[in-house]
Amino acid sequence: MQVSIREWQIGDIGKIAALEKQCFSDAWTEEQLFQTFSRKEFCGLLIETDDKRLVGYVCAISAFEDADLLIIAVAETARGQGLGGKLMDALFEKMRLQKVERIFLEVRLSNAAALALYEGRGFTTTRVRKKYYADGEDAAEMVKTL
Ligand SMILES: CC(C)(COP(=O)(O)OP(=O)(O)OC[C@H]1O[C@@H](n2cnc3c(N)ncnc32)[C@H](O)[C@@H]1OP(=O)(O)O)[C@@H](O)C(=O)NCCC(=O)NCCS
Repeated sequence: MQVSIREWQIGDIGKIAALEKQCFSDAWTEEQLFQTFSRKEFCGLLIETDDKRLVGYVCAISAFEDADLLIIAVAETARGQGLGGKLMDALFEKMRLQKVERIFLEVRLSNAAALALYEGRGFTTTRVRKKYYADGEDAAEMVKTL
């Protein structure tokens, strides 16, 4: 599959929200995505096929030397082909240009694919937060130094 990565534009928010709904039970709404996109500290990247089909996205908010990875998702039919890894690497590159030194995130302990992606990219768990999610699941807090 031929893909390319670019920054989010305002016109992408609708299709990102649609993919978000397919990927998460607690999906961000179009409004929440738009609000976050509008912040000046926002960085959003997406990955699309040659025929402009959205297959994945990632976004983060930075504050000086720290950033929080907010969401990463790849369409179910496109998983396991390295696209999540490509998105992470592109985000790291952007963050380095902005002089970000550390990226933080939270992940459900049951999310084996995401944990494998993060650990493979050098994130380490700093603590487990009990009942972090609305459904009572615990989260691992992770950090990576760029
Ligand atoms: C997490 C997610 C983004 C990974 O995307 P992906 O494109 O499938 O990831 P990649 O193909 O780049 O794989 C990354 C690594 O994870 C591993 N991996 C992928 N799926 C896996 C699974 N189901 N179980 C264990 N490891 C898995 C791969 O082997 C790969 O390891 P490597 O880098 O050592 O080769 C994707 O599964 C997804 O969108 N899940 C739903 C949304 C989600 O949970 N997002 C994260 C929480 S915000």
